[in-house]
Amino acid sequence: MREKKFATKSVHFTEKEISKNRSKSKPIYQTSAFVFQDLDDMESFYRGEKEYLYTRYGNPNSDDLGKGVASLEQAEDGVATSAGMSAILVALLALLEKGDHLIAANDLYGGTYQLLAEELPKLGIDVSFVPFQEREVVKRAIRKETKVLYSETVTNPLLRVEDIHQVVELGKEHGLSTVIDNTFATPYFVQPLTCGVDVVVHSATKYIGGHSDVTAGVVVGSAEIIQQVRQKVATLGCNLSPFEAWLASRGLKTLALRMERQGENAQALATFFADHPGVSQVFYPTTVSKRGNGAIVTIRLAEKVEAATFFESLDWVKIAPTLAGVETTVSYPIQTSHRTVPESLRQELGIDKQLVRISVGIEDIEDIMAAFDKAIKKAGS
Ligand SMILES: Cc1ncc(COP(=O)(O)O)c(C=O)c1O
Repeated sequence: MREKKFATKSVHFTEKEISKNRSKSKPIYQTSAFVFQDLDDMESFYRGEKEYLYTRYGNPNSDDLGKGVASLEQAEDGVATSAGMSAILVALLALLEKGDHLIAANDLYGGTYQLLAEELPKLGIDVSFVPFQEREVVKRAIRKETKVLYSETVTNPLLRVEDIHQVVELGKEHGLSTVIDNTFATPYFVQPLTCGVDVVVHSATKYIGGHSDVTAGVVVGSAEIIQQVRQKVATLGCNLSPFEAWLASRGLKTLALRMERQGENAQALATFFADHPGVSQVFYPTTVSKRGNGAIVTIRLAEKVEAATFFESLDWVKIAPTLAGVETTVSYPIQTSHRTVPESLRQELGIDKQLVRISVGIEDIEDIMAAFDKAIKKAGS
């Protein structure tokens, strides 16, 4: 059968099923457990004849989300988790054990940095952070205990585009698994598994959900790896609740539309900032994909622009320590997402008091430009 294209898949990832009450939208299975007729019926779950027993092990709504993202990422299977952070944790715990070594890019999301730098070593997993743009440095960091290479498709907040082919090549050369956080690019722009990556993780809190009303994560990969990840999710209680899964699945249906519009707006805003006297540097990638370059624009305000006044003067644009909703929002990495990154590394990367991350929404681009222009002018340009 001919494979459906991206937008169709994102709308139709749930099976066409007519439920007893003929509800058009999928019901929310807001239940912690599933009931059985008798003991033999209950045993049928363990024989693999019944799908559900207990929501921590699996639930129709969280399964929908895992399978929906898997289909868009062209993965065999996927599992939903309680947050992006738990998605990263269970993915890595499925691949690593005590004594192993992980090499991660040094310009990751601050929360991921903290998880890898502070928690994994307590489990006996050693972690090295290296600049992934320097292939030789990554290569030199590989030891006999190294098992995994970890990076982000587009990094947070400086939007460096990872050379995924190079990471995969290095991984294959040395027998290492590769894990990529595809939160910023989303499968609309990049599908890392098609480049040979083993596991993709998402903070579904961001573009998958798309409306800033849910905290969720997803891990996708081969059926074999996801089976192991699912086990970790159940054992550690990292499952996503049914209602959150339902919300994120609803968001997923409009992913293509949102990304197209938000990507176009971001491109226009980046072009606008390039000539703005109040902006000294624009970080907007040019090589993410044929479909566009994502919907985040990071800027460095000129020295004469006072950051606090800029944030105060943003009119209808909300200040929020998140990204990816349909509304345009701004965040201040030094104070939020990258607060836990050591000062010396922040300086090395260029995450300073003038750096602003903008999550571009679906509003009319003229209104977005006018709001930023006004705030920059008021703050000293
Ligand atoms: C790239 C990236 N990965 C993972 C996370 C963590 O996701 P969550 O907040 O859903 O746990 C974030 C959060 O901002 C992120 O930006």
